Amino acid sequence: MSDMQINPLSEALGAEVIGVNVGEFDEAAFDKIHDAFLEYQVLVFRNQNLPPDRQVSFARRFGELDIHVQKESALPGHEEIQILSTKKIDGKYVGSPSAGDNWHSDLSYSDLPTLCSMLYAMEIPEEGGDTEWANMYTAYETLSDEMKRQLDGLHARHTYNRFRNPRVEVPEVYKGQGKQRYADIAPPDAIHPVVRTHPETGRKALYISERFTIGIEELPEEDGQALLDELIAHQKQRDFIYRHKWDQHDLTIWDNRCLIHLACGGVPEGQIRHMHRVIVRGDKPF
Ligand SMILES: [Fe+2]
Repeated sequence: MSDMQINPLSEALGAEVIGVNVGEFDEAAFDKIHDAFLEYQVLVFRNQNLPPDRQVSFARRFGELDIHVQKESALPGHEEIQILSTKKIDGKYVGSPSAGDNWHSDLSYSDLPTLCSMLYAMEIPEEGGDTEWANMYTAYETLSDEMKRQLDGLHARHTYNRFRNPRVEVPEVYKGQGKQRYADIAPPDAIHPVVRTHPETGRKALYISERFTIGIEELPEEDGQALLDELIAHQKQRDFIYRHKWDQHDLTIWDNRCLIHLACGGVPEGQIRHMHRVIVRGDKPF
C-alpha cells in the first residue's frame, strides 16, 4: 500500500486513487482512503476487478447497506446491488435504464438518506454515459450572506414520486405503468434542512435538488417554488462540477451529504452502459 497515490481530478472536487486494489486494504490504507473521501468527495479507482461480493464488502466498510425501493432492478442473489443498465433481454431492461437523469442526492426522499454510493462500470458505451457531480459545500459557501440568513432554519420536502414534481419528466418506460407505480413504491415524504451540516467534517452544504425536492415547508407554495428555482439554478454552476468519462472497470464512490450528481445520458440506442451500484445508509440530516 506504500505506493498509493491520490491525485485531484478537478478544481471543484474529485480525486483518483492510484496503485490499490479495492478490497485489499488494511486499516491504515482504509483510513487514508476515508480521509481522501472526506476531502475530495468523489474517489475514482481505475481498472478494478470487482465481483459483487467484493463490491459489497468494500461498501460495508463505510456503513450499513441500503436496498433501493426499485426492487426489480436488483441483481438476482444480491439484493444490495442495483443494476443500472441500457441492456435488454427479450425486450425488457435488465436494470434501471434512466436512474439519475436529473440532479439529485441519492435517497434524499427517505428519512435516512444515502451516506455514500458506489458505482462500478461493467460495460461502457462508445458514446455518452458520463456522470457529473456538483459540490454543495461550495454551492452553500458562495451564497450571499443575505441568502444564507434566509435559508437558516428552513426545511424542504423531498419525494421519490416523479408525478408530484413538475421539474422532472416521467421516463417513457414507466409512463405505461401509470401513476400507481410511483405511489406503490415511494416511501412517505422526507423533510430535511435546506442546509445540512456534514456529520463528519462539520461543514455546511446545500441539501436540495431538482429531482427530489418539491417544496419549502415554512414558506407559502409560490415563494417556496421561487426560492427553489433560484437555488437549483445556483447549485448547477460549471465551477462546482466535475464530469467523469467512464472507462470499463472504473469504480467511483461519492459522498451524498455534500454533493448532487447527474447521469448525463446521451447513450445511443443499442449501445450498452451496464453498472453495479451499492448504497450505504447515512444519518438523519441536521
Ligand atoms: Fe444517483
